[in-house]
Amino acid sequence: MYRIGKEEIDAVARVIESGELFKINGGPLQESKNLDREMKELFGADAIVMTSGHAALTAALIGMGIGPGDQVVVPAYTYIATAMAVVAAGAIPVIADVDESLTLSPRAFEKAITKHTRAVIPVHIQGFPCKMNEICEIAGKHNILVLEDACQADGGSYNGKRLGTIGDAGAFSFNFYKVISCGEGGALLTNNRTIYERALIYHDASAVCFFGDQLKDVDEKLFCGSEYRTNEISSAILRVQLTRLDGILADLRKNKKLLMEKIAPYCDFVPSNDIEGDCGTTVALCFDSAEKADSFTKAEGINAISPINTGKHIYTNWTQIMSKTGAVNPLMDPFKMEANKAIVPDYNNDMCTKTLELLAKAVYISVNPDWSEKDVEEEAEKIIAALK
Ligand SMILES: Cc1ncc(COP(=O)(O)O)c(C=O)c1O
Repeated sequence: MYRIGKEEIDAVARVIESGELFKINGGPLQESKNLDREMKELFGADAIVMTSGHAALTAALIGMGIGPGDQVVVPAYTYIATAMAVVAAGAIPVIADVDESLTLSPRAFEKAITKHTRAVIPVHIQGFPCKMNEICEIAGKHNILVLEDACQADGGSYNGKRLGTIGDAGAFSFNFYKVISCGEGGALLTNNRTIYERALIYHDASAVCFFGDQLKDVDEKLFCGSEYRTNEISSAILRVQLTRLDGILADLRKNKKLLMEKIAPYCDFVPSNDIEGDCGTTVALCFDSAEKADSFTKAEGINAISPINTGKHIYTNWTQIMSKTGAVNPLMDPFKMEANKAIVPDYNNDMCTKTLELLAKAVYISVNPDWSEKDVEEEAEKIIAALK
């Protein structure tokens, strides 16, 4: 979260004064209904705001009809929630390397495809856009659905198209660490009517049939899903945050560009698949060895981290996935289900060593949209001193 203030406070106060905190009661403000509409206007896809990015990813997979017997390709470098969403749908994650851009390698994706592959989840990690043209082309050839995990890339784009709207569906997160935030939250985006209707039912399976006219235009049959609906307070905050989004991104990109220009003579950068669409949250340096990257992060005055040290973002640390523990009840555990018996890969720490090497040689410097030019100058001076 980068900016929050008086407008959000006023929006929350209005909701509390209205006495209508429940999304569907239809109070005077209709924050949640308006938020979905405003997201659709901004991103050009149907939107369902819900309680988290994980909920949005899971709802999208359920909407796609993914389940036991299916494999879903995920990158070796993403937050564990991406892989856990696959398991929540009853399917099996297949873990593939990232490339130099630190996003899913199209070649690794293609190599991971089997006759059981039903979907792929390219992850726009740190707001870095994936190679969506190549990924969608490969997916199209093999009849594989594309779910973009844009949880770390709210508002970013690739070739001028908003991330999350390029594949069959996309997911945003609005938890505290994201470009915009309401504390916790997420959204599903899709232009596919079937995915939309099923996700609508799945994310709110009881209220959807008892409150309001949510089923008015829905043809999909009702099924038992979950309860991931949002609420009027979160939606009120997010409506304000949404109006700030493009301003935050513009300032992040401006400061990232300026910082990169200043330090460019002294270092190499992780290559971007679309620097214009990149969210600008992170300047990613690339060193020729892990040792050099590590010593840079320890230099005096430097506030930087190597992605290899970002815990649950790396497959080797995905404890529940690596140990194939998908549920408490074994009959509910996708890793033990009869339908998945033949399709569970042999997960081991050495399966994506290319990813580990690339992550260890990279270093992230966080960008602040509210830096002045002088702040960027000072940041650059510290970085250059450490690089020399
Ligand atoms: C890449 C990625 N995917 C999915 C998620 C899950 O989002 P949430 O925490 O909102 O469930 C996150 C959250 O940090 C994430 O970074």
